[in-house]
Amino acid sequence: MREQVSIVEVSPRDGLQNESRLVPAADKVHLVNLLSDCGFTRIEVTSFVSPKRVPQLADAAEVLAGITRRPGVTYTALAPNIKGYEAARAAGADEVAIFASASEGFSWANINCSVAESIERFRPVAKAAATEGIPVRGYVSCVVHCPYDGPTPTAAVARVVAALMELGCREVSLGDTIGRGVPAEIAAMLDAVLDVTSAAKLAGHYHDTDGHALDNIRISLERGLRVFDSSVAGLGGCPFAPGAKGNVDTLAVAAMLEHEGYDTGLDIDAVRRAAEFAARLIHFDEWS
Ligand code: HMG
Ligand code: MG
Repeated sequence: MREQVSIVEVSPRDGLQNESRLVPAADKVHLVNLLSDCGFTRIEVTSFVSPKRVPQLADAAEVLAGITRRPGVTYTALAPNIKGYEAARAAGADEVAIFASASEGFSWANINCSVAESIERFRPVAKAAATEGIPVRGYVSCVVHCPYDGPTPTAAVARVVAALMELGCREVSLGDTIGRGVPAEIAAMLDAVLDVTSAAKLAGHYHDTDGHALDNIRISLERGLRVFDSSVAGLGGCPFAPGAKGNVDTLAVAAMLEHEGYDTGLDIDAVRRAAEFAARLIHFDEWS
């Protein structure tokens, strides 16, 4: 039997947060519904963040209310603080993701506080989630490079991963936020992180600015990681990380994994249909 690798589809959140066009909620709902037919077990739908900072996702509750939930699929939302957690729960998110940075510069730009303060903001989220039995995913951004602070020391990444694990995260996703990491850098970072947790608790979240993301996934597979985030049509980026390009493309990741002998559990034709729809959303002007 082939070994399984899970792909967490993040296009509705990471992809659409970075689009200059405000995508209508009905189109987001349709995208999530198409993704629900692909075989993903986790789909990151939206974020409960300040609508002034991320107007693209101001319709988070409407989108979660509108989707057709497929049994067996976990629908995740980002929550930066307890206010976001409560809104995400009221809207029916199955899992919440808290998001920290390994670098101070990005932490301030993204969530307006220091790394240490962010962990304190996450504490009540983790506590409430534990009480309600809601799984929490952690993110660490800028695991190799920060658009503000430059190269990130591997020890800083390990420290934040350990803090998120201590809060009770079931998994921490390691973000190469601006997609500039090369395999040797990802490997060094993973070696430091694997000193504080096991590969089974980690995911790779590699943006693909310089075309290294697939190789970064390969090196992560060698170190035992079996969960990777990606986006159909390569959507993605962060409005607070200048130079951040899209996430690695789901179809490319799935093809590479199948080629390497892993089972992704995905229906590739269904992924292709979702990708075509997602591409229409971002190339709206050319299609309309
Ligand atoms: P703040 O200014 O420190 O917080 O923002 P505050 O508590 O002082 O509140 C400021 C305003 O935001 C207030 O509204 C609050 O009510 C409101 P006002 O009085 O001005 O009208 N507010 C909220 N509104 C809705 N939902 C909330 C919420 N919290 C406060 N949860 C905050 C802190 C984090 C909220 C803000 O800085 C923010 O929203 N930042 C956006 C962060 C974001 O979404 N970034 C993109 C996602 S992260 C990413 O892409 C990286 C990742 O993909 C991994 C990788 O690639 O590396 C995950
Ligand atoms: Mg990202």
